[in-house]
Amino acid sequence: MYSEEIRRRRTFAIVSHPDAGKTTLTEKLLLFGGAIHVAGAVKSNKIRRTATSDWMDIEKQRGISVATSVMAFDYEGHKINILDTPGHQDFAEDTFRTLTAVDSVIIVIDAAKGVEAQTRRLMEVCRMRKTPVIVFVNKMDREAKDPFDLLDELEAELQIHVRPLSWPIDMGIRFKGVYNIYETRLDLYTPSKQYVTESVPVELNSGELDTRIGETDAAKLRKDLELIEGVYPPFNEEAYLRGDLAPVFFGSALNNFGVKELLECFLRIAPSPRPVQAVERIVEPEEEAFSGFVFKIHANMDPNHRSCIAFVKVCSGRFERNAPYLHVRLGRTFRFSSPTAFMAQKKEIVDEAYAGDIVGLPDNGNFKIGDTLTGGEQLHFRGLPSFSPEMFKYIENIDPMKSKQLAKGTEQLMDEGVAQLFVNRFNGRKLIGTVGQLQFEVIQYRLLHEYGASCRWDAANYYKACWIEGEGAPLEDFCRRKAQYLASDRDGRLVYLADSAYVLTMAQHDFPKLRFHFTSEF
Ligand code: G4P
Repeated sequence: MYSEEIRRRRTFAIVSHPDAGKTTLTEKLLLFGGAIHVAGAVKSNKIRRTATSDWMDIEKQRGISVATSVMAFDYEGHKINILDTPGHQDFAEDTFRTLTAVDSVIIVIDAAKGVEAQTRRLMEVCRMRKTPVIVFVNKMDREAKDPFDLLDELEAELQIHVRPLSWPIDMGIRFKGVYNIYETRLDLYTPSKQYVTESVPVELNSGELDTRIGETDAAKLRKDLELIEGVYPPFNEEAYLRGDLAPVFFGSALNNFGVKELLECFLRIAPSPRPVQAVERIVEPEEEAFSGFVFKIHANMDPNHRSCIAFVKVCSGRFERNAPYLHVRLGRTFRFSSPTAFMAQKKEIVDEAYAGDIVGLPDNGNFKIGDTLTGGEQLHFRGLPSFSPEMFKYIENIDPMKSKQLAKGTEQLMDEGVAQLFVNRFNGRKLIGTVGQLQFEVIQYRLLHEYGASCRWDAANYYKACWIEGEGAPLEDFCRRKAQYLASDRDGRLVYLADSAYVLTMAQHDFPKLRFHFTSEF
């Protein structure tokens, strides 16, 4: 019924290790879409932390990221939704969750640095979810690694097959442009931040190639391409859509080079909204009834208003303003009078949204990450795992008059997905686990300013928390031997707090019948 609308949608995220060029690339895509008109309009949502900056500064900087959480624009008949992800590694969990709401991903790599830590972790999530991935190797206008070495590195580090669809002609100050393998065109490099480059169709064996880029480079290009055709099988769209093969583009986002090629190929091959697996059944985007899930909750910047925005990914059908929708977990019906959509940097109230779109719903505490909304059906969407945290602190109340506020605040922040709460089964203390140090500051600050509760952190030196599954004697034996290292998560599930990598490996070795899970979804 809505298939036309749905088919023209492309919902994706651009991810990278900080500084590889994600913000720059996003900005260039918005320029093409006419969503912005000058470069520099997109503020980096990068959290720059200096010695003097405290959480308040970070909060201010984070304010920018609210505005740029979703950037939607139209381009040649397509509706493009770019979901922004925080660059700071302490917010990695936010990024992982955002990846559950996209249908494909563009990974930006710094050509001089290759695959970096953050990229590797993000790719793990893509692999888990079989998300189709396109790689953009950025900063070719600087001295870079050899492109063949880069391809090998991508395959080895990201554990995915790659296939170059464009090929760089030299690099750094000698960078001449790229050969567009997909369309057999030569794209010449004109260093400029604002203008699209010159693009000429050229026969590989013609003399024109030599005239354009010089004999030496032309000879090298011919040899490189021969090698590519020999080594890499032809690009296969099916394999890309299955998440087995990543096409690779080279360019320079800052100079707007190679970006248009990337965008055009992306529009041609990237998937429109895909079916989503719910616990009960697979939900097709074209279904008439609306369904969606909350993948992110953003707190209000104003401490006097404890309201939030819940970001809902529409999975099927059409979302309508003021229509009654079932909040499945609460079993209650809600109507939303002011749902917002995000067009480039503007936020505006919308009357409708289709599968693939993101709507922001103002909320005061009714939503949790992972909640499902439907037209009435009992559906539960899966796929929002919490990752095993790697930093832990005990949270202690320092104002006995405010223990209720502390408990409530902690619960709500956990619902928002800021961190994970465990209760140590041995001593009953509350333990907060995060993936980054910054979260402890965030929690302490927000508890005080939004809930009036003061807390103190006590050191807890654990290496990792993982979920344990098992039965009978081995489980009993494990619980006896590790009694001091057991906790419960908020659903009461058994969690093991390992105090070192060695101890964890030993435990896995000693208890082969137990299952150790490193994400909350198993
Ligand atoms: P991020 O969002 O992935 O963290 O990266 P961002 O786009 O902010 O880019 C990081 C830095 O790399 C920026 O410089 C940006 O100008 C530069 N950059 C991005 N693309 C290219 C490219 O193709 N070539 C070159 N040479 N540089 C590129 P900065 O100095 O940190 O910031 P700014 O002051 O320029 O904004």
